[in-house]
Amino acid sequence: MTLLGESLVQLADYGQRVRVIGLDRSAGGYLHRMDVFRHVDLVDSDLPSGRRHDRRDALTELKRIEGQDDAEVISWGLADALIGMRSERLAVANDSMRASEHEHQKNLIRYVLSELLNNALTHAQRRGFKGKARAWTAAQYYPSTDKVRLAVADTGCGLLATLQGHAQLDSNTHFAAISAALQPRVSCNRNLGLREDTVNEGIGLTTVHRIVDRTLGDMLVLTGNAYQRRRAGGLLPNDLAWQGVAIAVELRRASLRGLRVAELLPLGDVVPPELRFE
Ligand SMILES: Nc1ncnc2c1ncn2[C@@H]1O[C@H](COP(=O)(O)OP(=O)(O)O)[C@@H](O)[C@H]1O
Ligand SMILES: [Mg+2]
Repeated sequence: MTLLGESLVQLADYGQRVRVIGLDRSAGGYLHRMDVFRHVDLVDSDLPSGRRHDRRDALTELKRIEGQDDAEVISWGLADALIGMRSERLAVANDSMRASEHEHQKNLIRYVLSELLNNALTHAQRRGFKGKARAWTAAQYYPSTDKVRLAVADTGCGLLATLQGHAQLDSNTHFAAISAALQPRVSCNRNLGLREDTVNEGIGLTTVHRIVDRTLGDMLVLTGNAYQRRRAGGLLPNDLAWQGVAIAVELRRASLRGLRVAELLPLGDVVPPELRFE
C-alpha cells in the first residue's frame, strides 16, 4: 500500500491522471479508507462517497512522513492505534497488570516503528537523496487475528548505496546489502561506539528482525531489485525494482508478551572498534 501510494503521487507529479475503473467495493473501500486514492479518479467504482469514517482506534492510514517530529508523533499515534481498541482501553484502565502489559506491547511496537522511520528519514537521504527521498507509512491492528501489520517505505538511495564498500557486504548487489544491513553492528556510520543511543549503532534493523524472529512474525525487506522475507529471498520478478527501501512487518500482538528489547539488542555481539591512530 505504501508503494502504491508513492507510485500514484509520482504519476501525479509527472502530470499524469490515474483513473481506476470498476474497482470492487471491498478492496476499493479498504484502500479508500486507508487514504490511498487521494490522487486518483475513481470511475464507475461502487465506493461510498464523502468522508471516510474515523477508525483511529485500529489503524493509521497511508501517511507521508515529513520530518523527525512527524515520525515521533506518528510512531506514538500508530502504537496507540494498534494497541488501543476503545473497549480494551476501558478494561485496561481498571486493571493495573493489564495496563502494564498493554504499555509494554505498545513500547515494542513503537520501537519497531521508530527504528524504521528513523532509518527512512536519515539513511534514505544520503548519497545525493537529501530533500528528494519521501517516506511513507501505513499500519493496522486486526483484532480478530490479533495481528499488527505495519510498513515503512522510502524513495531514498537504498541499502546498497549506503553500505557500499562495507566489509560485511559480500557482493555489490542489493540482495547482499539486505543481508548485511540485518547483521548486528553493520551501519553506514563507521564511527560506531561514539554515541550512547541506538541511532547509528547498526543494531536497529537487527533488533527489529530479532523481535520478528522471536515472535514468529513476518518481515519483508525490499530494496533495488532484491527482497528478503524470513530467511529466503532473491530478485524481484519481471525486472522490477524499487528505488529506496520498503519494509513490512507483521506481528501477533500477544506474542510480544514478556519480550524484552534489552535481551534482543545485539550488544553481546559487539566487537570493539579497531583503534587507529594515523
Ligand atoms: N531506509 C534506508 N535507506 C538506506 N539505507 C538504510 C536504510 N535503512 C537502513 N539502512 C542501512 O542499513 C544500516 C543498518 O541500519 P540499522 O540497523 O538501523 O543501523 P543504524 O541506523 O544504527 O546505522 C544503516 O546504517 C544504513 O546503512
Ligand atoms: Mg537505524
